[in-house]
Amino acid sequence: MGGLDTLKHGSDNLVLILDFGSQYTHLITRRIRQLSVLSLCISGTSPLQAIAEHKPRVVILSGGPHSVHAADAPAFPDGFLDYAEKNGVFVLGICYGMQLIVQKFGGEVAVGEDQEYGKMEISVANEGGIFRAEEVGQRQIVWMSHGDEAVALPDGFVVAARSAQGSVAAIENRAKRCFGLQYHPEVTHSPKGMDTLRHFLFDVCGLAPDWKMQDVLEEEIEAVKETVGPDDHVICALSGGVDSTVAATLVHRAIGDRLHCVFVDNGLLRYKERERVMATFESDLHLPVTCIDASARFLRELKGVKDPEAKRKIIGREFIAIFDEFAHEMEARLGRRPDFLVQGTLYPDVIESCPPPGSGRTHSHTIKSHHNVGGLPKDMRLKLIEPLKFLFKDEVRQLGAILSVPEAFLKRHPFPGPGLAVRVLGDVTEGNALEVLRQVDEIFIQSIKDAGLYDSIWQAFAVFLPVQSVGVQGDQRTHSHVVALRAVTSEDGMTADWFYFDHKFLDKVVRKICNSVRGVNRVCLDITSKPPATVEWE
Ligand code: XMP
Repeated sequence: MGGLDTLKHGSDNLVLILDFGSQYTHLITRRIRQLSVLSLCISGTSPLQAIAEHKPRVVILSGGPHSVHAADAPAFPDGFLDYAEKNGVFVLGICYGMQLIVQKFGGEVAVGEDQEYGKMEISVANEGGIFRAEEVGQRQIVWMSHGDEAVALPDGFVVAARSAQGSVAAIENRAKRCFGLQYHPEVTHSPKGMDTLRHFLFDVCGLAPDWKMQDVLEEEIEAVKETVGPDDHVICALSGGVDSTVAATLVHRAIGDRLHCVFVDNGLLRYKERERVMATFESDLHLPVTCIDASARFLRELKGVKDPEAKRKIIGREFIAIFDEFAHEMEARLGRRPDFLVQGTLYPDVIESCPPPGSGRTHSHTIKSHHNVGGLPKDMRLKLIEPLKFLFKDEVRQLGAILSVPEAFLKRHPFPGPGLAVRVLGDVTEGNALEVLRQVDEIFIQSIKDAGLYDSIWQAFAVFLPVQSVGVQGDQRTHSHVVALRAVTSEDGMTADWFYFDHKFLDKVVRKICNSVRGVNRVCLDITSKPPATVEWE
């Protein structure tokens, strides 16, 4: 509700992705947008009407972990291929999507004997279709990730590329505007993949690259103006993160000071975080923000609590209570109830994803509830404005840049809602754990920035361990705290690898920490990937 129900700008050239559960479905959607073409993603088993309502020019059938022979194999709705043919819609199947095309048009898919996974060499066999004419006879490296393969093509289809082992790597039926790639053009392991997609969209399908962030911004601002009446008021909780900041800045552009923001200091923030984000809100963005220092209240509630889930619950509950108080205070101040609430929900949070095989689930919204702190005040009856709900993180950063959000702010590493509570293991109120952690974290992050590494890392932080170890500092034996450092690379936080620091860099950081943070005599480095670990320790 509020904002847009769908993006209008660019929809004359829409590419609709039907998701069959591939880990790369979001990536293909983003890649197409990177080519300045609007793409949206819906469940692969959506009814035909839902597909037709989008009026797509191109439909891409995603990959997926299923076998087309499985009893519960997801498929596009009956009548889809006829609909596409009658309406001149181009269809491209990727991996599982290609196998579906083969099967549904009457060809044959077999379980691959020598299963072809990972990097493969293919050679282009056909002229002027999904590959450029000059590519015929050429070889390229591509990324395969499915065991099944097409062994008999349906009538009217030809092989457009074969793997070095001779299996079908790409197919096409130009008369039916139907194409298939057995590999993933969207991943960087297929170096020519983007070029193939570009050729497909612009030369084969004749789309125009007309989707631009500036237009999206204007459209979103217009939508907010239309949704929010001239006397309506809007409230927004800012976390200090990119999403809520960009969402609020956009809404502020639309309705000015009828937007009322709140930033809650829960006592679990990083070193000087409150001062830093408030300065950005005030000086750079001119956002009207009320800062509430609720640290004493949060820490009182957290005293003695060791279980991380219990900590999360308490933090969520307190946050809702404070936000509720803020909303009522606004009501008293304005003499009327605020009407809307801005949230920085992103597209990956609302896409209906295909459930994995054997999960027994039907399609469902995959909202990462465990990552969202709390819910919303129940009795406020606020309507939602979610201006970023069709955008990916990198697109939100682009919007933010157009809105003059400082670049350093837009590039900040993610920070969890429960803050340092999930980085102090055990009771966060014990001793000076939070203070020690803030100092260690600041040295670590500042050193990473000084070394020019910040932008190569997805997330870096320090962790306070609830143990003490023996040390020797000066002539004294000490019994002090142990801290851990963690830095990971990741695409989206779902999987992560630990970041390889140079030894000299680590040596310098650890010396600095032990020399300047009282109460720390040992520093460990976390070199676990996700899985098996998570990014945060709790
Ligand atoms: P994990 O530790 O789950 O983290 O592998 C993946 C990403 O999510 C962030 N994270 C959280 N964010 N509330 C949040 O707002 C949470 O409770 C929470 N736990 C993890 C984490 O920082 C990483 O970016």
